[in-house]
Amino acid sequence: MSHHIVEFRDVHYRYPDGTAALNGLSLRITHGESVGIVGANGSGKSTFLMHTNGYLLPQSGGITVGDLPLNRQTRQEIRKKVGLIFQNPDDQLFMPTVFDDVAFGPLNLGLSPEEAAGRVEEALGIVGGLALKNKPPHHLSGGQKSAVAIASVIAMKPDILVMDEPASSLDPKARRYLIELLNDFEHTKIIASHDLDLILDVCERCIVIKDGRVMADGPAGTILSDKALLEENHLELPLTMQGRTSYKKGGRMNDIEKLRHLIGHWLEHNQEHAKSYREWGEKAGAAGRHELASLLREIAERTAAMDELFRQAEKACK
Ligand SMILES: Nc1ncnc2c1ncn2[C@@H]1O[C@H](COP(=O)(O)OP(=O)(O)O)[C@@H](O)[C@H]1O
Ligand SMILES: [Mg+2]
Repeated sequence: MSHHIVEFRDVHYRYPDGTAALNGLSLRITHGESVGIVGANGSGKSTFLMHTNGYLLPQSGGITVGDLPLNRQTRQEIRKKVGLIFQNPDDQLFMPTVFDDVAFGPLNLGLSPEEAAGRVEEALGIVGGLALKNKPPHHLSGGQKSAVAIASVIAMKPDILVMDEPASSLDPKARRYLIELLNDFEHTKIIASHDLDLILDVCERCIVIKDGRVMADGPAGTILSDKALLEENHLELPLTMQGRTSYKKGGRMNDIEKLRHLIGHWLEHNQEHAKSYREWGEKAGAAGRHELASLLREIAERTAAMDELFRQAEKACK
């Protein structure tokens, strides 16, 4: 048995209008790896991802998933292993309720209605979407739709999770939640994104695609700190990396930009912090540790009042 879970060998694909989207793409992804796919718009990322589960079939070259060569006959089997989450959740959700959408895949795999309902509970629980079960998907917010689209795929328990631009419609909180969710998965993960900070947080390896071919492939930390390589591909250093290089060079502007980003982050979490100080204060009180309880209450109050200061500091960065 091969330990390469996904292998592309010299894959070519041309759309019906003649656009050559993949031009000899070759790569190997090993079991358990988490791989970021980056590149300019139109470089072929989505076309590549749509080949991983046979949504598109190569016109020349070969693809192997697990032990199966991908072709018209095997693609149904391969879809059980590879869960592809499209960029736009509206392309994924088409049933009258969230429950039906998430149950659709498991029922298609031949599970009984009871088993499928169990999978729905589990998958919605993982993405924090249980309360949405009976809602029509078109009534959900962007972030909720993304969560349900992810649930509809993980309900099939795929070996490989493939996501196209997962963060593009998410607000910062939902994006942070998604990063935690992805980091909790033990699947093989392949994630295309312009959000290089997300790639850096989730992936140990990063592949740069240019003109439908692999242009660079290596540890995410190395690829995503290569400013020249990123610029050539219309990308910018991740914010966290911008901070790091600016410290080296002592560049002031980048430091301020990083600080503004950090302050936004501190502000976003400030009330949460205050809440946990308060909760720990209550626990300390209940345990009879009254001095500790009163100190934590004081800390919680002063923290809660700091939002305005953070906001002023954020403004002062401009
Ligand atoms: N359905 C399609 N028909 C024709 N050309 C397409 C289609 N989808 C994508 N393309 C073209 O194929 C190339 C690769 O696109 P895509 O894989 O979507 O790139 P990316 O996801 O990196 O932005 C681009 O030139 C794009 O315009
Ligand atoms: Mg794309």
